[in-house]
Amino acid sequence: MSVKINNKFLDGFVNEADVASMTKRAYSAQELLKSKKGPGNDYIGWVELPENYDKDEFARIKIAAEKIKKSCDILVVIGIGGSYLGARAAIEFVKSPLYNNLKKDTPDIYFAGNTISTTALTELLSICEGKDICLNVISKSGTTTEPAIAFRVFKALLNEKYGEQGARERIFVTTDKERGTLKQFSDEAGYETFVVPDDVGGRYSVLTAVGLLPIACAGIDIEAMMKGAYDSMKACELSDSEKNPALSYAIYRNVLLEAGKSTEILVGYEPYLLMLNEWWKQLYGESEGKEHKGIFPASVIFSTDLHSLGQYIQDGKRNLFETVIDVKKSCEDFIIPNDPRNVDGLNFISGEALSHVNSTAMLATLIAHNDGGVPNIVVEVKDKSAYTFGYLVYFFEYACAISGYILGVNPFDQPGVEAYKKNMFALLGKPGYEGMRAELEKRALNK
Ligand code: PA5
Repeated sequence: MSVKINNKFLDGFVNEADVASMTKRAYSAQELLKSKKGPGNDYIGWVELPENYDKDEFARIKIAAEKIKKSCDILVVIGIGGSYLGARAAIEFVKSPLYNNLKKDTPDIYFAGNTISTTALTELLSICEGKDICLNVISKSGTTTEPAIAFRVFKALLNEKYGEQGARERIFVTTDKERGTLKQFSDEAGYETFVVPDDVGGRYSVLTAVGLLPIACAGIDIEAMMKGAYDSMKACELSDSEKNPALSYAIYRNVLLEAGKSTEILVGYEPYLLMLNEWWKQLYGESEGKEHKGIFPASVIFSTDLHSLGQYIQDGKRNLFETVIDVKKSCEDFIIPNDPRNVDGLNFISGEALSHVNSTAMLATLIAHNDGGVPNIVVEVKDKSAYTFGYLVYFFEYACAISGYILGVNPFDQPGVEAYKKNMFALLGKPGYEGMRAELEKRALNK
């Protein structure tokens, strides 16, 4: 198995009776998911996706990726939330957070439309000057403000640079099959389109064209990724928490929640896990945080953050637990050099592998945080391959769905995301929001 749960650092924090009773609830949640009768059951297409994905489209994705790789220096990927985080997490996990700076025969990849920052947009436009560009616009709805603004800007840039015919060869759109305006517009403009399946929500969509096209453009083996997801799916189908790491993870985190641990910190000891953390936060935050329920998902990268948030985790409010991603094999090792003058007093580790120091830091921290009253779930991950990324993604998705059903919420909707959007549209003067605008402006004046 590419993913295993180690529960040794939960000793003294969870008891057998609580785990046994939560295990029964997890089995019921699993039955509900399998029955396809649970809340949000029109958004569970992701469950069978590693087996039932559209093979013709998959072949088209690979062809498009080859075309993109040959025709540009920079691929700009436009999308936000579930239409952005998974692809970036995969590229950083499998390749590197410094992917754009590596020697490679694949294009640089920049992400746009995930913010409304003027600075971010103008900087990217300046980076694109004099370069050949392709675009992958990703939006299930096709109307999300942030990516829509970025698309306007980059579409105009490509039309100006290459003419409409040339731009058509360089713009690839991933969107809803039929309903959205983006699909209609793309068909009229002649852009190649890929599908976000109707029954797969944004944050569960990394194994669709949403993630697969940009990931393939980075030179990552998407066949291996889907195989990893498939093997993970098979493990997740098992109704035995000893053999099914997703059930085991869901059980422990819910036992901890019921013991008052309402914040979960996802911990990585490698910078290449940073965007996986971000993807995970969206998955769990949007899936569980509703009806005033849920575990608040936070994240850190150690040992970096041991020098910032480490103090709080060790000694602050005791409503926390950690889930540590322990990647067993990253890359060739690096040996710590000797310093004849031993200025820093570290010669006792000269000749040691750096990975040994990192894993020792992890062990030391696990024990220290346990001593400080913080339970730790350890998720052991085999390596940083494409296969393992697919395995890990499916593992987290499945555990999230089970957790949501244990909590008694619909893990596949996100009604709360609309609140800020409505206010923003009203304040920006969108037709139809006039009454709301007056009310909001009055409230803003009183602040
Ligand atoms: O998980 C979700 O559904 C959201 O995060 C969406 O992915 C995000 O809001 C972007 O939506 P869209 O793809 O419609 O532009």
